[in-house]
Amino acid sequence: MTLKKNILITGGAGFIGSHLVRLFVNKYPNYQIINMDVLTYAGNLENLKDIEDKENYTFIKCDICDIEKVKKVFLDYKIDSVIHLAAESHVDRSIEDPFSFAQTNVMGTLSLLQAAKEYWDTDFTNKLFYHVSTDEVYGSLGQEGFFTEETAYDPHSPYSASKASSDHFVRAFADTYGMPTVISNCSNNYGSYQFPEKLIPLFINNIINNKPLPVYGKGENVRDWLFVNDHVRAIDVIFHDGKLGETYNIGGFNEWKNIDLIKLLIRVVDKHLGRVRGTSEKLITFVADRAGHDVRYAIDATKLKDELGWEPSLQFEEGIDETVKWYLNHTDWLQNITSGAYTKYYEDMYNL
Ligand code: NAD
Ligand code: DAU
Repeated sequence: MTLKKNILITGGAGFIGSHLVRLFVNKYPNYQIINMDVLTYAGNLENLKDIEDKENYTFIKCDICDIEKVKKVFLDYKIDSVIHLAAESHVDRSIEDPFSFAQTNVMGTLSLLQAAKEYWDTDFTNKLFYHVSTDEVYGSLGQEGFFTEETAYDPHSPYSASKASSDHFVRAFADTYGMPTVISNCSNNYGSYQFPEKLIPLFINNIINNKPLPVYGKGENVRDWLFVNDHVRAIDVIFHDGKLGETYNIGGFNEWKNIDLIKLLIRVVDKHLGRVRGTSEKLITFVADRAGHDVRYAIDATKLKDELGWEPSLQFEEGIDETVKWYLNHTDWLQNITSGAYTKYYEDMYNL
């Protein structure tokens, strides 16, 4: 039987957070999971319908920047561990509105750190502040090489600059106050429940609806894709067995040029829709490049593999097939989420 814990998961109504909450609620009946989320456009309680009535689960609507409310949650629920995912997470939005990224990602993280420090006082026994971060803090690679845990920070977008800053604050609390912390930096995730502003769900939705597929630049940028269930499995392993003060890179060992990935997506969606192979390639539309577009991300996740035994479980083609099937079977979820404010965002962003 595992030790009892009261775990605050922030951002649990979002894409990765909802997968993590589901995993922990089902796998650890001894843990009380407190999901703190303010429900921005990206947060959706529909994502957690299947576990919302479980006894070891509580949802609290709260802005992580509201430090007085956050402090009260620590006190009321006797929080001993934090897994912090709440963030503004979309690079394109950060280019339009950098301030909200600084506010949530930097000030929100600081508010959680401060609340944890005050509540835990100096008794850090069996306490942990786990910060979930991104490989984008390392900047951009050329044709060669990988990001390791020692790669110097070199963020380019307002999003990655805000995440880099939050990582620095977490390390500062460890060094200055002795706060027990761990950080993981992960590559691009894909899977069910991802908001359709990110490449994979956006393009699946557009292929279904015969809408243009807006490819930035020449489509030659490279990303390292990881199935979201593998990311949350890694968080589980690091949460339980990671060494305090350490950083772990998480990646899929799975690099794809955007245009090749898009052609694969088209093949898989067309197959499931019963369309002739390649029909939807005509939807590919090259558009102006993203400002400051990082050329290539690739994670070296050897440390996580060697020290904690984690490896990705799925071949990419299998994960994409599963993901496409999920979106095709959940068109109601897609329709709900893409009504209202999404339409305005899409029109302003793409003009297509
Ligand atoms: P997401 O945008 O899908 O979800 C973010 C969640 O945070 C939403 O539920 C939103 O309502 C909540 N939130 C936002 N601002 C908040 C605030 N002020 N107070 C409380 N809740 C707030 O994001 P995601 O893709 O699930 O990413 C989760 C975390 O993982 C982020 O920290 C992100 O930087 C990191 N990450 C994401 C990826 C990826 O590929 N998606 C990869 C590596 C790391
Ligand atoms: O690497 C981890 C990061 O991955 C996370 O920290 C971020 O939260 C997450 O959003 C993701 O960032 P990216 O910018 O890499 O993901 P996105 O899905 O926005 O874009 C993936 C690639 O596809 C990127 O090179 C830009 C390109 N793209 C994206 C969109 C939305 C297009 O060509 N057209 C598009 O319409």
